[in-house]
Amino acid sequence: MNPVPYRTLYTGARMPAIGLGTFGSDSVSAAEIAEAVRGAAAVGYRHFDCASVYGNEKEIGRALREIVAGGIPREDLWITSKLWNDKHGEADVIPSCRQSLADLQLDYLDLYLVHWPFPNFHPPHCDVGSRSPDARPYIHENFMRTWRKMEELVDLGLARHIGTSNMTIPKLELVLRDARIKPAVNEMELHPHFQQPELFEYVRARGIEPVGYCPIGSPGRPERDRTPEDTVDTEDPVIVRIAEKHGLHPAVVCVKWAVQRGQTPIPFSIHHYRANLEGVSGEPLTEEEMREIAGTDRNCRLIKGQVFLWKPDQSWEDLWDPNGEIPA
Ligand SMILES: NC(=O)c1ccc[n+]([C@@H]2O[C@H](COP(=O)([O-])OP(=O)(O)OC[C@H]3O[C@@H](n4cnc5c(N)ncnc54)[C@H](OP(=O)(O)O)[C@@H]3O)[C@@H](O)[C@H]2O)c1
Repeated sequence: MNPVPYRTLYTGARMPAIGLGTFGSDSVSAAEIAEAVRGAAAVGYRHFDCASVYGNEKEIGRALREIVAGGIPREDLWITSKLWNDKHGEADVIPSCRQSLADLQLDYLDLYLVHWPFPNFHPPHCDVGSRSPDARPYIHENFMRTWRKMEELVDLGLARHIGTSNMTIPKLELVLRDARIKPAVNEMELHPHFQQPELFEYVRARGIEPVGYCPIGSPGRPERDRTPEDTVDTEDPVIVRIAEKHGLHPAVVCVKWAVQRGQTPIPFSIHHYRANLEGVSGEPLTEEEMREIAGTDRNCRLIKGQVFLWKPDQSWEDLWDPNGEIPA
């Protein structure tokens, strides 16, 4: 078994190259997820991807306290949390981070992300057809007001790094132009059927680490996040064949591919987290297998973000800056 690799961020900090996702897709309870956090730490996970909107930071906080009390030093853990969309207001950013810190029972976060670039309240569990009357397009000046507060979190020592999520190249261009503290990480959807090669290369070339969500193609995602066009990574014949050859589940092949490609996957799991970690530390995929998986990309975005649409007759593609422009 090889040790789990780390990514070195532009600050010199080391982030474990695989983390445990903690969004239960509305079907896995907070208690079960906290138990998975305990179990995952026991088998070697040190990186946990949390968010206030997942509704389980209190339970995970109790698990983290036990993990540290059990002898794993806090400095060895990498804990991420995220600012939810209804908290972009300047007065809300620092209190939201403090709330996550209190819930997670931590003095600092390793990484705090702006979860989405759109400020928008939509009720938990709402349908993708739900629209907020206050929905707005991406307004860069407003995002920078939020970002200034994110930068203050670093100054205050409450977050060691700050980052973005669900961004595009046009939006990142503006943020990189205007930020005092540049994002250390961009969290983005990444799996074999959705490889986002352009954005992936863009962030890496600028010293921003890509963290990949839905690395297995989110087979347990809520019904509202499914459309008939979606494809299934773990049923892809190339991935199935490589998995059979290695004696692994296709999901593990997706995670191995992610780490070897250079992103940091954060697979959610309450039953298979050990297999995913062992997969990453085991025999690597061959260059030929890596090339074959690169060829399975279908540009199939699963988390489309429909609830953020801000005017009638729009399509979800508008959220992702088609043609390289931010639509007004
Ligand atoms: N920034 C964002 O906007 C954003 C958006 C979406 C997700 N995320 C983060 O990314 C994390 C991961 O995404 P996700 O949870 O949607 O999808 P995912 O990690 O692609 O898939 C998770 C599902 O795969 C199953 N699974 C995991 N390992 C497996 C294995 N080795 N064999 C068979 N099945 C396996 C899990 O089942 P078991 O539980 O039964 O193992 C679970 O149902 C989230 O939990 C969250 O932390 C962030």
